[in-house]
Amino acid sequence: MKTTAQFLKMKEQGEKIVMITAYDYPAAKFSEAAGVDMILVGDSLGMVVLGYESTMRVTVEDMIHHSKAVRRGAPDTFIVVDMPFGSYHGDINETLKTAVKMMQETNANALKVEGADEIVPVIKKFTNAGIPVVAHLGLLPQSAGVLGGYKVQGKTAEQAEKLIKDALLVEQAGACAVVLECIPHQLTEAVSQKLTIPTIGIGAGVKADGQVLVFHDLLQYGKHHIPKFVEAFARVGDEVEKGITSYTNAVKSGAFPTLQQSFTMKETELIELYG
Ligand code: KIV
Ligand code: NA
Repeated sequence: MKTTAQFLKMKEQGEKIVMITAYDYPAAKFSEAAGVDMILVGDSLGMVVLGYESTMRVTVEDMIHHSKAVRRGAPDTFIVVDMPFGSYHGDINETLKTAVKMMQETNANALKVEGADEIVPVIKKFTNAGIPVVAHLGLLPQSAGVLGGYKVQGKTAEQAEKLIKDALLVEQAGACAVVLECIPHQLTEAVSQKLTIPTIGIGAGVKADGQVLVFHDLLQYGKHHIPKFVEAFARVGDEVEKGITSYTNAVKSGAFPTLQQSFTMKETELIELYG
């Protein structure tokens, strides 16, 4: 398993860091086998797996439940778990308790929190308590309601300056990496140059130190909206659709199962059974 020190070194040496989200055992197993550097149990869980319209209904218990499965599937991969909406904005000691519970129950390697400003002390508190923190700047899905939707952030000089300042603040507070979501590529380049810790981009251009994509987006698996910045690396959804349709048709028509897929009994036993 890679460590936060190794991620710093990878940045230093210009080696890209690969992160993918996962929410269950098979996805984690596939991801570890593929050699990804980090797995994020994102609260995108709410949309791609649980069928919610936003991340806002995901709970700490949801995150713990899925993270445990991911850990079972990827025992040797650095796992980051999202703290869900509302779980780190209250009393700081309560917040730390929640964080400790999430770390202990999931056996994760780090937690991720969105934002700077009032989140900076949270990052500091966790880090001081021994919990590695991944920060998240730019588009903050948990604040989509306040931001007025899922929009590109940091497009004006003023917003860009603020984001650079925030990035430096979260680094100073102890963050071990920072996710940059949906910002102009020039801003990603500037932030990546100014920080010692790695930047992990999503919809943030080519200059981030690493990349993250949502499992169901990059594999085109599901019925959810897929953002514009995603590349389809496979079309799993089409295969699933074909498979389930074929199965349905085969059962209806009697083409499945056949004798070949059946268990048999010896003639003598049959005679005993039916006389
Ligand atoms: O929840 C998530 O999947 C994320 C990534 C998009 C960075 O936070
Ligand atoms: Na998230």
